[in-house]
Amino acid sequence: MLTAYDMYTAQLFDEAGIPVLLVGDSAANNVFGYDTSLPVTVDELMPLVRAVTGAATHALVVADLPFGSYQVSVEQAVETAVRFMKEGRAHAVKLEGGRRFAAHVEAITAAGVPVMGHIGFTPQSEHNLGGYRVQGRGDAGVALLEDALALQEAGAFAVVMEMVPGEAAKLVTGKLAVPTVGIGAGPHCDAQVLVWQDMAGLRQGGAPRFVKRYGDVAGELTRAAQAFAEEVRGGRFPAAEHTFD
Ligand code: KIV
Ligand code: NA
Repeated sequence: MLTAYDMYTAQLFDEAGIPVLLVGDSAANNVFGYDTSLPVTVDELMPLVRAVTGAATHALVVADLPFGSYQVSVEQAVETAVRFMKEGRAHAVKLEGGRRFAAHVEAITAAGVPVMGHIGFTPQSEHNLGGYRVQGRGDAGVALLEDALALQEAGAFAVVMEMVPGEAAKLVTGKLAVPTVGIGAGPHCDAQVLVWQDMAGLRQGGAPRFVKRYGDVAGELTRAAQAFAEEVRGGRFPAAEHTFD
């Protein structure tokens, strides 16, 4: 699974054989430039979801429910999920939280909308968790498993685990019938997810330990922009072949 927030990346990743595209609320950081995922709204995410579902022909497209769009009540959760299906034409939704959100997952599923869970480090609860830190260490591994089982019981079709020890992720993956998707959760999950700008090297600067860069999109774009500017300033672009008679 990779994140995607627009048409070109959705098309490319779909054709590259990525089976699941997530329009993450990480668009907050990676599209809108906010410093956390908390401020991004349903109205901001909806056009991105629509762009990705319109471009992908094979991939399952999952829309992330942003902070504040499902926590208020089970009814609010169902309404937001339905909006992402109708207006965004998503195939499924994802929300953060374990046992505390089992009722929400159950109600959304009952409405006919597949739900992906998300436990471990959940960025929308960053302030509640005391910052950006690994979850599920030691005794907390039991709570992680209970959260995962509650989500499965509630009808979740898959569970994302973020920033948990590899052994805890292995245990949960072994106990669950539905697939786990890891991010900073070691090699034993059934699937893996990364934010595409991290995976492809568009984001500059320090990245978390779990990120691997498979490309240098930042370098490539910088080189292209510099070459364009240089050729325009030097009078080499546009040339005759770019000019109408
Ligand atoms: O918003 C996001 O990108 C996510 C993934 C990292 C799982 O939730
Ligand atoms: Na997210």
